[in-house]
This record gives sequence, C-alpha cells and structure tokens, in this order.
Amino acid sequence: MCGIVGINAKEEFSIKFELIKSLKRLEYRGYDSSGFVTKSGFVQKDIGYIQKLMDEIDETLVTNMAVGHSRWATHGGVTKLNAHPHFNKEKTIFAVHNGIIENFQEIKKELQEKGYEFISETDTEVIPHFFDNQLKQGNDMKTSILNFMKKVHGTFAILLFKKDENIIYALKRDSPLALGICEDKMILGSDIYAFSNETDKAIFFDDNEFAIIKADSYEFYNDKGDKIEKEITKFEWSEEEETMEDFPHYMIKEIKEQPKVSKRLLDSFNTTQKSNINNFIDLIKQHKKILFLACGTSYHASLVGAIVLNRMGFEARTIIASEVENFTQFNKDTLIIAISQSGETMDVIVPMKNAREAGAKVVSIVNVPFSTIQRHSEVSIEILAGQEICVASTKAFTNQVIALLEIARRLGYDINLSDVPKKIQQTIALNEVKVKEISNDLNQHQNLFVLGRGLSYPMSREIALKFKEISYVHAEGMMGGELKHGTIALIEDGTPVIGLVPNKDPEMLSNLKEVEARGAKVYMIINTDMDTGYEKFRVPESDNAEFAIYSCIIGHLLSYYIAVLRGNEIDKPRNLAKSVTVL
Ligand code: M6R
Repeated sequence: MCGIVGINAKEEFSIKFELIKSLKRLEYRGYDSSGFVTKSGFVQKDIGYIQKLMDEIDETLVTNMAVGHSRWATHGGVTKLNAHPHFNKEKTIFAVHNGIIENFQEIKKELQEKGYEFISETDTEVIPHFFDNQLKQGNDMKTSILNFMKKVHGTFAILLFKKDENIIYALKRDSPLALGICEDKMILGSDIYAFSNETDKAIFFDDNEFAIIKADSYEFYNDKGDKIEKEITKFEWSEEEETMEDFPHYMIKEIKEQPKVSKRLLDSFNTTQKSNINNFIDLIKQHKKILFLACGTSYHASLVGAIVLNRMGFEARTIIASEVENFTQFNKDTLIIAISQSGETMDVIVPMKNAREAGAKVVSIVNVPFSTIQRHSEVSIEILAGQEICVASTKAFTNQVIALLEIARRLGYDINLSDVPKKIQQTIALNEVKVKEISNDLNQHQNLFVLGRGLSYPMSREIALKFKEISYVHAEGMMGGELKHGTIALIEDGTPVIGLVPNKDPEMLSNLKEVEARGAKVYMIINTDMDTGYEKFRVPESDNAEFAIYSCIIGHLLSYYIAVLRGNEIDKPRNLAKSVTVL
C-alpha cells in the first residue's frame, strides 16, 4: 500500500529515467496517483498510473536528491492535491509517507490552532507542518524526529527532507522500509525492488528506527536517539523476472511460469531449503495447536494447509487474519503459520506480533525474501515463485499450496508431487483453447458460482476471488454441500455454475444435478473421462490434492481471458494494491 522511494546521489541523476523508473518498480503497491519532489523543491504529481506522470516529466530534469511516491488512497480521495509529496506552506519541508497517522485529526487541530493551513484531506499532510513547527521552535531535525515518534500513533515509513539540504531523513514504524547501498548513491524504498537492479546490499529498518541518509553515508538511530549499528544483508535478484517477455500481461506470463517455479520449489526442498523444511516440520510436531494466519489468496492456500494437517491428526485451523483475535486466543501451545506472498500484509503482521507476545511461536511461508513476516519468523519457507508483478496472485498461490502439500507429505500424507510441474504444463496446454472459448460464454454473465468440496473447496473460493478482482464478475466460491442452504435461491435459467469434480466425486455430482434442475448452466473441471453432457475442462489424472492445483489454474485462466474480453486493466485492477500494508 503506497510505494516510497528516495535517492541521494553523489552525482546528478535523471528524475524520469532513475527516480520514476525505480518508483515504477513499486507501482504494484498502489497506483491511484504518484508524485516526486527534487532537492530544490520542484514538485510534480498526477493521478493515475505512474506512466502518465512519467510521460509528463521533462526528460532533462536532473538532481542529486529526490523522493517519490505511488499512492493507494486511504485518507482523502484520488486527487492531485491528495497525491504525495506533501509540504509546508513555504515549500521548504517535503514528505512522502506509507502508512496511516491514526491521531492526525488531533495533531492537525493543534497545528491549525497555531495557524497552519491544510490543503489536502490526507493524514500525511500533518508531517511537514509538524516538522515546520518543530524547527521554528528551535529544535534540530533529530530532536524533531524523536518528538514526532513520541507524538504520533499509527504506522509509517516516511522520507523527509529540507529544501536544498543534502540529507534524506527516513523513519519507520510498522510500514516497511529498506536502504539500498550503492557505490555512488543511497536508495531508500518500500522494498528491495526499488533498488534491486542497482545493488545487492540492503539494510532493513526495524520498527521505531530512523536514519540520516547522505549520498555516501548513513546513520541509524533508535527512538531514544541512540546511534545503532545495522547489519547489511546481501540478496539475490534476477532481471528475467521483471520483464514481460512476449506476453501481453504479467498475469498470463506468471500463470505460464508455473511449471518452472513449481519445479524450482520442489527441488529446493531437497537442497537449499532442506533444513528449513525439516525445522518447520519439527515445530509443527512440537505443538498442540496449529493456527494459520493469512488473507485473500494466501488465506485460500491456508485452507489447504488446515485440511491436510487435520487429516494428519493435528488440530489445525485457519482464520482470516484481520479477524483472528475474535475467534481464538494465542498461547505458548500455539504454532502460528503465517502465509503471505508479499510478507508485508499488515492484517497478518499485527496478530502475528500479538501471538508472539502471548508466547506462541511463529513460522512463515512467504515469497518475498527479507520481508517483515519472514524476518519475524522463527523459520520461514520461501516459495521461490520469483517476483510476482500482477496484483492478482497466481504462481505464488500455486507454490504456497505445493509447499503446504510437501509439508503434509513429509508428515505422512499420501501424495506424490514429483509430476506436478509436468502436469501443470499439460493442464495449460490441454485447456487454453477451450478456456478462451468458454470465456466468451461466461463473459455474458455478471454472476456466477464455483462449487468445490474437500480440498477443492479452497479452490472454489480462490477461483471466485479471481473472477471478482480481474474480470469484475460477481462470483461466489462455495462448499458444494452449502449451496442448498440458501444460495441456491439465486440460481436462475442460465446462471453459470462451475463444479470442481475430482475423481467422479459423487457428492459434487449430486450438487451439480441440484443446480442443473433449477436451470443452471453447468461447467465442470474434471480429472477422469466422464460423459455428463456438461461443458468440461479435463486436467491430468491425479489425486484430489493435486487436482485442486490443476483445477485452480483453469479458474485463473478463465478469469484472465474474461478480463481480456472486457478490456480490463489486468495487471493493475481497479481499487487494489498488491501489498496491503494498512489495517
Ligand atoms: O501478500 P499477501 O499474500 O499477504 O496478500 C494477501 C492478499 O492481499 C492477496 O492474496 C490478495 O487477495 C490478492 N490480490 C489476490 O490475488
């Protein structure tokens, strides 16, 4: 949610080709508006995608220090005035911010009483005015930052500077922030992607820390103002992940990368991640209660985890992370398994921290290395899906499910995963033409249902989520058995219902008969030859757990091709952001 970037360099650099290019690498974090400010106080902002701003920027604009921001609106609508950076009246202090200043109304009122005028509806605007007030009272920047950290409630990653001073001040509480160390410059960013093409050396800010960043040096402090030493982390990154190759969208590129990335993950369990997965499993065995924390698509993966661990005799549950504390209590007997592609989802981070405070142990399954969730886990499995750029998660989901099935397999669950990469390839190859054909039918509808039972139930939820977020079709993913308890009232003549039917599951077939009898147009995803008269997608022969993976790939493809027919903005669907770092 919101991407921030700041560059402090020894030499001048291009705003358009360096700062904004770096900002674009964070665009998946939010794309309602974007903006930047140079050291001399030149501000430019616009609403819409970063490309729009980029096209408007003078190619000759250079500076040696600047900060930029890509916004996902929380406080205040999508307008130029609400776009970051924000500044004081004299335009001498500039700030970009990711997070939420919860007590901004109170701070705003105090500043207004002192005569400060506000021009935006954002919480962020209190920041430059607060610092303006502090400096006018005679405080230096360091003292002002300490006062700010004491005063403010909420979450923030902030980059702040004073006009014509060669220093960026960087502050962090809860929202992610990293420093990339290059030979000729320092780059600050919400995550390593802001600078991963420039350096492999990063320092990750911890909560309640701030830093003073010059072009060739940095100093870190805690919230008492004591100087602290920070560890430099070396990371790996491959450029190939970032390019779209010949694909029209990242989404389809990422769907088609699945044979490769699933193989990479499976191989890693016998090589680079061998000890990790063993430690992970040991911790599962040592706990009475296993609780998954996840949201959105990652929650759907966690449903698979809960089902298979239950089948292996563990008391495993998953609860959508934002509501978990209303349904259960954490204690030392609990093992939390946090699942997150980004590793930065605030709805997961908050209960995860609370669980640790209550004595629970936390392990995680993440995609983005060095993310907050990974850094705060006892053991973390990386799903190695590579950078996922499309906001809608596809390859990361598949690899989350594979990781969970591999854990279950090592705990005794009867499944063979070695053919999964090959069968994913076959699933796509055998069905893509049919998917395009059926997408034409489904595109005529604004409501549809996806039904699954057992391990296919999480997939029905996941497929429905993709129809909503990418195709803008209202879809409900349901347990096959639950439909008759109410929702079946919505079935009319021609209503599309997609049934996930592994191995001729007789109960699913009955559920499909029930909707057919009420006029539904039934589509099936199957893994055995069957003649039912329904339209069907055939995936390779498999057990029910493997089937779940392949059926979901059909669902992801359907949502993609419907979105293509509708001309939707596929990689950056409306109102969404890939990394949801606010509550
Ligand atoms: O990064 P995370 O896996 O923690 O993100 C959780 C959800 O925000 C995410 O899965 C979301 O539902 C995606 N848009 C799904 O495609």
